[in-house]
Amino acid sequence: MRSILAPVVLLSSALLARAGGIAQKDFSGIGNIFVLNSSDWPSATPDQKVGCLDDNGKFINPDDEEDCGVFTRLANYPYTLSTKKGNCTFDDATQEKNTDSWYGKSDNAWNCNGTHKAVIYDELYTIDGFPYVFLCWGDIACYYDVKKVPGKNETLSLWQFRWGSHQMGITPGHMQAQLLWNKIGDLPKREDMENIPSPRITLEDGLQIPLEGQQLSA
Ligand SMILES: *[C@@H]1O[C@H](CO)[C@@H](O)[C@H](O)[C@H]1NC(C)=O
Ligand SMILES: *[C@@H]1O[C@H](CO)[C@@H](O)[C@H](O)[C@H]1NC(C)=O
Ligand SMILES: *[C@@H]1O[C@H](CO)[C@@H](O)[C@H](O)[C@H]1NC(C)=O
Ligand SMILES: *[C@@H]1O[C@H](CO)[C@@H](O)[C@H](O)[C@H]1NC(C)=O
Repeated sequence: MRSILAPVVLLSSALLARAGGIAQKDFSGIGNIFVLNSSDWPSATPDQKVGCLDDNGKFINPDDEEDCGVFTRLANYPYTLSTKKGNCTFDDATQEKNTDSWYGKSDNAWNCNGTHKAVIYDELYTIDGFPYVFLCWGDIACYYDVKKVPGKNETLSLWQFRWGSHQMGITPGHMQAQLLWNKIGDLPKREDMENIPSPRITLEDGLQIPLEGQQLSA
């Protein structure tokens, strides 16, 4: 899928954030990743939480938040996420494919794999001015695709949200999701987070940018 993953445009300094919005430093350190049932980021809140990602990067819905994975964001390039299982990526070809999706048929589920060397394409990032620390991927795409909310003991795949003229919204029968960073701590060595680059985008009051990523063709 590398060919349709346009590189993220990264600039060295954040454009002015909306007052009250989050900043790059809020997506740092150690945290859980909550999964929200959401197809509309401007109105999304943590109340839409329907589960979290585990240490393998899979979608679970545990009774106890302790069962959620613990992710670490690298404080320096490529600013990627890892767990005790390894670096997290959408680029692991051994993972389940999103076969129900028109555009995502060959997409791999997210996975934190012990042998994967992290690269910049694996980075998830947030946007200055967001109301909460929502996580985005690729070319300003802030939604994900899951089959449903998992049962108590179920483990499900998380894919990237894809759209185009053949499938304008979420894969039929699936649920559109957002990811939310739930910071639980700082890195052991308090590394300087001020230097994490942010995407070249600014959110201004009243501006409803879809943040659905690029439309795909064919
Ligand atoms: C990790 O990724 C590599 C490269 O894609 C793959 O060969 C390997 O089977 C994966 N391992 C696991 C445990 O998923
Ligand atoms: C994770 O990725 C980083 C950056 O590419 C690399 O230095 C590290 O060795 C990787 N970790 C594992 C367990 O492969
Ligand atoms: C997600 O939220 C929408 C809107 O509240 C609701 O209609 C839908 O049933 C929810 N989906 C799942 C899988 O819970
Ligand atoms: C989930 O697994 C636990 C431990 O294996 C078991 O006690 C429990 O009944 C299971 N719950 C459901 C809803 O299947």
